Amino acid sequence: MRDRYARSITYLRLSVTDLCSLRCRYCVPAEGVPKRDHRDISSVEELVEIAQAAVDCGVRKVRLTGGEPLVRRGILDICRGIAAIPGVEELCLTTNGVALSQLAGPLREAGVNRLNVSLDTLRPDRFAYITRVGRLEDVFRGLEAAAEAGFAGMKLNVVLMKGFNDDEIPGFVDLARRYPLEVRFIELMPIGQGRTAQFLPAQTVLNACPALRPVEGSGVARRYRSPGGQGLVGLIEPMSHRFCGSCDRIRVTADGKLKPCLHSDQEIPLRGLHGEALRRAIQTGITAKPERHHMDETGRSEAGRNMHQIGG
Ligand code: GTP
Ligand code: 5AD
Ligand code: SF4
Repeated sequence: MRDRYARSITYLRLSVTDLCSLRCRYCVPAEGVPKRDHRDISSVEELVEIAQAAVDCGVRKVRLTGGEPLVRRGILDICRGIAAIPGVEELCLTTNGVALSQLAGPLREAGVNRLNVSLDTLRPDRFAYITRVGRLEDVFRGLEAAAEAGFAGMKLNVVLMKGFNDDEIPGFVDLARRYPLEVRFIELMPIGQGRTAQFLPAQTVLNACPALRPVEGSGVARRYRSPGGQGLVGLIEPMSHRFCGSCDRIRVTADGKLKPCLHSDQEIPLRGLHGEALRRAIQTGITAKPERHHMDETGRSEAGRNMHQIGG
């Protein structure tokens, strides 16, 4: 289905929990996330029903997000249920990678096609600092397990932060030269705990690595390759190169609210709706999609929620 600005909406980002196994400083507050009553969160059946209704409205790609989707009880049932929906061409998942060493194989068997892994540093001390509680080796073992399980086309999401990981840009770019994966540098957005003082434009990557050459393609990332490189480097620049004009997605939070735009506080409640009523609510959400976000002018997101409550 097309929205009011003729954008074709084919991609659903479905959050399955707002809980996370890490506490990244730019995402969640120091005290962590209060656990909600499980009745406030959509059940496995509700999630599958939402995905089915979205497919009826034209969605072809579903991405499971969180918080951290792998801490959700029943995650494999959710994957199996959605993978079995005719019309779902791609089932993807964005994870912090911590639980992948145990779950990569089962996820693949449950029908997940592709994984994106969030990883902001390759240094154990920095990883422990930025995540407050994480161990880098868990993510490395997770990445190995994912490769062994047969996941191809993996993407690493690196949030750029001034004074934290700017000196690691060449190291990440080198990783994308040596391995067939896409390393994507994401501009820090003023949402949740994200602070503009740490903002670094993605152009910094091109300045640091002048050998990178542009590659054709579409999507939220501009892509580049190192000469002879196996993988790709992507730049996701919501602040300096707004990509709203080609936005193709809607989001549903774990408590069943459809968000037409990441950075708008508009929410359409879906819980309790079934069949035609559910489809109509999703169509209402698509029609309500704003033309663009205004973070560049206002310096803040109007999302009204933290990132872990939306799923990126
Ligand atoms: P692919 O299917 O591999 O293209 O993944 P994706 O980029 O759609 O999903 P992923 O979860 O890896 O998203 C990477 C990050 O990009 C997110 O966590 C957000 O920080 C950011 N992002 C994704 N979609 C949007 C969007 O619509 N607007 C803005 N401003 N940022 C987005
Ligand atoms: N700006 C940019 N990216 C963010 N993420 C979380 N908070 C922010 C922010 N303020 C990213 C995480 C992960 C995805 C779910 O969202 O690093 O890749
Ligand atoms: Fe689309 Fe909103 Fe993201 Fe812009 S900020 S790309 S309009 S979802």
